[in-house]
Amino acid sequence: MKSQLNNSGLQVIGIVGKTSDIMIQFRKIYTIFWSNRLFMFVKVATTDQVKPGRGFGTKLDKVFIGIYCIDGEYYAIDDVCPHMGGSLHHGFMNDCVVSCPLHMWEFDVKTGESVWPGSLNIPAYPVKIEGDDILVDIDSPQVQDI
Ligand code: FES
Repeated sequence: MKSQLNNSGLQVIGIVGKTSDIMIQFRKIYTIFWSNRLFMFVKVATTDQVKPGRGFGTKLDKVFIGIYCIDGEYYAIDDVCPHMGGSLHHGFMNDCVVSCPLHMWEFDVKTGESVWPGSLNIPAYPVKIEGDDILVDIDSPQVQDI
């Protein structure tokens, strides 16, 4: 999908592209018109809520997010497994890989990349730490190419 900002700041969108890109663009448009937020980091948790080796699940603007702490760094990815909707933050951790608790699909929590079976990547979101607060920008998802 090709998009660019026009003079009024609204996005002009073409109809070509991957499904994940199209979903991201629709989410941005939804945010512009029906939300009070505009592309900003929002507090989703505090650092003491996110334990190493375990995911922390939360929801922001109807987006389920899993927060993870790996080697002192914090990461955020979509929490809904693209297979059948399992809640990834309830999954098992092995280094930076979380396994879905339902059927064991695996994702790299740093990038959202599918480790197994390698067919569908999920969005990863920019994370910022301010004091003890974990802030996530759900309007700037990054999806790795397959
Ligand atoms: S729902 Fe996650 S692997 Fe099936």
